[in-house]
Formats: sequence, structure tokens, C-alpha cells
Amino acid sequence: MEVSQVTNVMEFEAIAKKKLPKMIYDYFASGAEDEWTLKENRSAFSRILFRPRILIDVSNIDISTTILGFNVSMPIMIAPTGMLKGAHPEGEFAVARAASSASTIMTLSSLGNSSIEEVASTGPGLRFFQLYVYKDRNMVIKLVKRAEKAGYKAIALTVDTPWLGRREADIKNRFNMPPNLTFKNFEGMDIGKFDKTINADSGLAKYYAGFADRSLSWKDIAWLKTITHLPILVKGVITAEDAKIAVQTGAAGIIVSNHGARQLDYVPATIMVLEEVVQAVQGKIPVFLDGGVRRGTDVFKALALGAAGIFVGRPIIWSLAADGEAGVRKALQMLREEFEITMALTGCRSLKEITRKHIAAPWDRAQ
Ligand code: FNR
Repeated sequence: MEVSQVTNVMEFEAIAKKKLPKMIYDYFASGAEDEWTLKENRSAFSRILFRPRILIDVSNIDISTTILGFNVSMPIMIAPTGMLKGAHPEGEFAVARAASSASTIMTLSSLGNSSIEEVASTGPGLRFFQLYVYKDRNMVIKLVKRAEKAGYKAIALTVDTPWLGRREADIKNRFNMPPNLTFKNFEGMDIGKFDKTINADSGLAKYYAGFADRSLSWKDIAWLKTITHLPILVKGVITAEDAKIAVQTGAAGIIVSNHGARQLDYVPATIMVLEEVVQAVQGKIPVFLDGGVRRGTDVFKALALGAAGIFVGRPIIWSLAADGEAGVRKALQMLREEFEITMALTGCRSLKEITRKHIAAPWDRAQ
């Protein structure tokens, strides 16, 4: 298939697969162990059905919204994913430009191949910075300060990765970052170099284990709040219990995420636990979702279950690999159009009009 024939974001994947070396494709595509959660992240969406309302004047649809007080054109944002230059030479730059031209938010990964400052230099745009917490806390302070200085609007603190999940494709491939790429944010710091001599298991897993702080706990969120005024989004909450603690700890928001099914296998699909988290936070902070969002209908379902917005991961990578910045623009545009059509066909003219009654979830019938 040609890029020009692509009619939904999923179709970029086959093009990307053809273009990319197997080791890189597998790194982007894979989930942990049996990849049960990877499939479930998608299939759970298909079990949620619509209850559309008819004969409502839908000649004007407005999908704009605010995220942490910032105006965005749609509730569809970009999740942090590492090593984007592995997908395309313009990597993070292309994604940043496509996000700002779509007036939406890009989250830059700590493990990007472009630095915080480089991405900011692409021009104006709303950006969040994704943070892993390292054993070396001075490094964390430096990264957070750099993100503040470069105008990033929030820190997405990833909390589901004390250890890197077992991605068997990476182990089989003895995954290593291509020799021409580096983790740009850490250049000049101790951990900037990916040990290219590592030749057993997944090189990434070993590298990550070397610097990630496995002792990370709730008290560190309080610490993070002492070093930055940026709002902190806790990324990786999937239970009501943890959602409540996140609120108490002063998180500015929660991202319901299972890391694209790359960490613990056999956790539920994120769309299955979203409502539990939303109910637990009682409207005190916004709740976002990522994982398996591939259609405008998925976006609507997440909003109907209480999400304030969603993030997409792999569709951005595949569209980037297929056609660089133009590909990512097209992916965002297709999701936008699908979401607008879903709004029109369910009888919703603005995000405020989306209600729980517009969908039927499998667990509704059990009640
Ligand atoms: C990720 N994700 C991720 N998350 C994070 O907090 N920091 C990171 O560096 C990365 N890196 C990363 C690389 C790749 C290749 C993937 C696929 C994912 C997880 C990401 O932010 C998000 O949670 C998922 O990608 C969302 O699921 P979908 O949209 O890919 O199904």
C-alpha cells in the first residue's frame, strides 16, 4: 500500500514494517511476554457500543478543549515514545512540528533521540516532558529545570517502569540502539552512552536497569513537587486505590496507562479500568488515557467514560516511519475527522455533551 492510499491510522503500520529494520520494528511494535494485554488494549474498545441520539442539529461540531488550562484543538494528544529517530531521520522534530500544526500537545520522552532544547527549538507548541526517575537525583533536577526553561507545560512522571518489562522480541533480537543514535537528553552526563557492547538479552533492558531508580515511591512525588512548579501527571495508574493516593499526593492529573502493554502482561486494557479511576478521583483532577486508541470512536468511548483527553503512541511512530512529518499530520487529521464524525453521529456538538449514556459497556449489563 502507498501512503496516499492510507485511510486509517492502523494502515501506516504495514508501510512502516516494510521500511524499518526488523529489530527496530519489533522494538516499536512489541508488548510484554504473551502480549495478552497488547491485544486486549484494542479488543476491549470493540466491546463498548454506542447509544447514539438522533435528530439533533449537528451542523456545528466543536471538539476543542482545554488541557491543564491550555487550549488545544482536540482531546487527542501524543504519548511519549522513545527513539523516534529509529523510525525516521527527523524523529522527534517531525512529531513536534506535526503536533503544533494540529494545535495539540506532544509529550517528549526522556529517552528521545532529540533533546528537550532541540525539540523546543522547532518553534511554538504545547509540550509535556515525560520523566523517568534516575538513581542520580541531580540528573533528575537538571532535566526538570531544563524542561521548565524550555517552556514545557507539565511533567508526565512514568510510574509503571521500576524495571523494564520483558519484551521477548527485544531479547531475541538482542536489541541495541542503532550506532548513529544517542539519548540526546543525557549527552555529557554519565548515562548518555548506550553500551553498544552489550550483547545479551535486550540491551535496552540492561541499560535501563543501570540508571532507573527502582526505589521510586509516592514520597518522591512530594519531592518532585519541591523542585518544580510544573504540574505533575502520574502516568501509569490503573487502580482506584492508586488514583486516590495520586490525588492526595498532589498530582495535577492521572494518565491511565499500561505503557502500551509493554510492562506487566495480563493487566486489563486501559479502557476497562478508566471508569474505576475516574470514580475514585471524584473530579478533583483530570484523568487521561492511553493504550490502543486507533479510531475516533475509541476517543469518544474514553471521553464518555470520563477521560479529559487521550494520548496515542504507536500510530504516531508508524505514520512517522511511513512519511515523516506529513505522515504524522495525516494520522492526527484522520483521528480528528473520525472523532468529529463520531460526535455528529452520536448527536454531540461539543465535548460537554458527551455523556456516559452515549455508550453501553459490557459491565453495565451485569448491574
Ligand atoms: C512507549 N511508551 C513510553 N512511555 C513512557 O512513559 N516513556 C517512554 O520512553 C516510552 N517509550 C515507548 C516506546 C515505544 C516504542 C512504545 C510503543 C511506547 C508508552 C507510551 O507512552 C504509551 O503509554 C503507549 O504507547 C500507548 O499505547 P499505544 O497508543 O501505543 O497503544
